[in-house]
Amino acid sequence: MKNARMIVDRDFRVGQIDKRIYGSFLEHLGRAIYTGIYEPGHPLADEQGFRTDVLDLVREIGVPIVRWPGGNFVSGYNWQDGIGPKESRPRRLDMAWFSTETNEVGIHEFCDWAKKANSSVMMAINLGTRGVDEARNVVEYCNHKGGSYWSDLRRKNGAEHPFDVKLWCLGNEMDGPWQIGHKTAQEYARVAHEAGKVMKWIDPTIELVACGSSNLNMPTFGDWERTVLEEAYDTVDYLSLHQYYGNPDDDTPHFLARSAHMDDFIRTVISICDAVQGKKHSKKKINLSFDEWNVWFHSNGHDQKYYDSRVWHEAPPLLEDDYTFEDALLVGSMLITMLRHADRVKVACMAQLVNVIAPIMTKAGGGAWRQTIFYPYMHASRYGRGTALLPVLDAPTYETKDLGAVPCVDAIAVENEDGGVTVFAVNKDLTEDVCLTMDLRAFPGLRVAEHIQLHHDDVKARNTLEHPNEVAPTAGPGGKIEDGRLQVRLGNLSWNVIRLEKAE
Ligand code: AHR
Repeated sequence: MKNARMIVDRDFRVGQIDKRIYGSFLEHLGRAIYTGIYEPGHPLADEQGFRTDVLDLVREIGVPIVRWPGGNFVSGYNWQDGIGPKESRPRRLDMAWFSTETNEVGIHEFCDWAKKANSSVMMAINLGTRGVDEARNVVEYCNHKGGSYWSDLRRKNGAEHPFDVKLWCLGNEMDGPWQIGHKTAQEYARVAHEAGKVMKWIDPTIELVACGSSNLNMPTFGDWERTVLEEAYDTVDYLSLHQYYGNPDDDTPHFLARSAHMDDFIRTVISICDAVQGKKHSKKKINLSFDEWNVWFHSNGHDQKYYDSRVWHEAPPLLEDDYTFEDALLVGSMLITMLRHADRVKVACMAQLVNVIAPIMTKAGGGAWRQTIFYPYMHASRYGRGTALLPVLDAPTYETKDLGAVPCVDAIAVENEDGGVTVFAVNKDLTEDVCLTMDLRAFPGLRVAEHIQLHHDDVKARNTLEHPNEVAPTAGPGGKIEDGRLQVRLGNLSWNVIRLEKAE
C-alpha cells in the first residue's frame, strides 16, 4: 500500500465556493430537451409535458444553475421562435447539429422547467447570426417588469412576472470555425462589448460571461482571451473556459492525468485575466466560468455518420456517451481541480445534463437511469458547499507522456457551512490502495460521519437501463480520528467522499 499525507487547515483557505460551480447545461441538441426533459405523452410527464422521473434525478444531484439553449445551437437560434402559441411556432433546420428544431420548448417552458428543478437559468444569446438588437430585446423580454413592447409581449404570453435571468453568456465558442457566424477575436470583442453594454443598460443587475477559447489547444488561445478582455473588460464579469477529455487510446493513467491539464488551463487563463487587469490599472477582477466540461469521446464515430448523412431528424440520438467507471474518476478529479480554484472559478457547467454527454439517461417512453458520472457530480454538489481549503498534499506521483510527474491522488477539503469538513479524494493508482493520513488538528471535535466510495474492478463497467446499479457508491472503511489525525484507506482506482461532522 502507498502512503499520502495531507494537512487540512483554515489557514489554507482558497475561497468561498460559489454554488454555481455545480451548474449544468441543457442544449437543444439530440435528445437533451425532446425525450430528455420534455416528453408529453410519457406516462410520467406532468401537465406541461416535463418528465417527472428526470426532474427527480436532477433534484437528486442538486443543480443550482443550468445553461441554455446552447452551445453551438444558440449561434443560429431565434428566441422569438419559441414564444407564443406552440401550434404556430416554426420548425427550423438547426445547422449546428443537422437536426430539425420544433421550438416546442422556448423561454417560457424552459424557465418553468428550471423552477421545477430548483435551478436558475444561465441564458446564452446568439452572437453568431444576430447581435446587439436581439441582445437588448431578449433581456427586456425576460427581465423588464412591464410597460414596454417586449415585456408586455411576455405578459401577453402568460408570464406576468419577469423571469429575472441574472447570468448571461455573450454567445458560444465564437473562436471556433464550426460555429455559425464564427468571428475573429477583434470582431467578437467588439460585438460582445456592445451587446453587453446595452444588456446592462436594460438591466444593471445582470452578470455577463464573455467567450474564452473553445479549448486550450485552439491556435488562437491566449491572444483570443487578451483581445476580448482588452475590449470588453469593463462590460463583462466572467470569461468562459470549455474542455472535454477522452480516452481513445485506452490509456487509463494518461486519461486520469487530464485533471492536471485542466489545472494548467485554469492557471493560464487566470494569468491572462490578471495581466489585462494590470495593463488597465483596473480594480476589477475577471472570474472564470468553466461552462462546458466533461468526458466526451465515446459517441464521436456514431455521430459523424449522422452529420454526414444530412437527414435533419427531430431529436436524433447524438452525443449519447455511455460512461464507464474510469470516466467517473476523471469527472471526480475535474471537480476537485475546479474546487482548488474556487477563488476564481465561480461558475461551472457539467456539459451536459440529460442524454447528451450526460449523467442522466432516458429511454423515450421508458425509464431513466444514472450514469457513472452522476455520482461524483452529485456528491460534490451535495457535500461541497462552504469554503474550499487547499490541502497541503504529499502523494506519490507517476510519469505521464506530456505532463511530467503527476500525483496519483487528487484531493480537496471543504469546510462546510455547518462546521463539518468534507474531503474529496481520487486514488488513480491502477493496482495499489493508498493510506491517506489527514492532519485535522485545526478542526478539533470532529468525527467521521461517513466514508462513501465509488469503485469497480472493471474500469469499463457502465450503468444501463437494464443494469442501472452496476457502478454505484458503497460505504468505505472510514476511520477514527486519533490525536487530530485520520487515516483512511483509498482503494485502488476510487472516488472517495470523507464526511466529518462535529461530535455531539
Ligand atoms: O456540449 C456540446 C458542444 O460542445 C456545445 O454545443 C459546444 O459549445 C461545444 O463544442
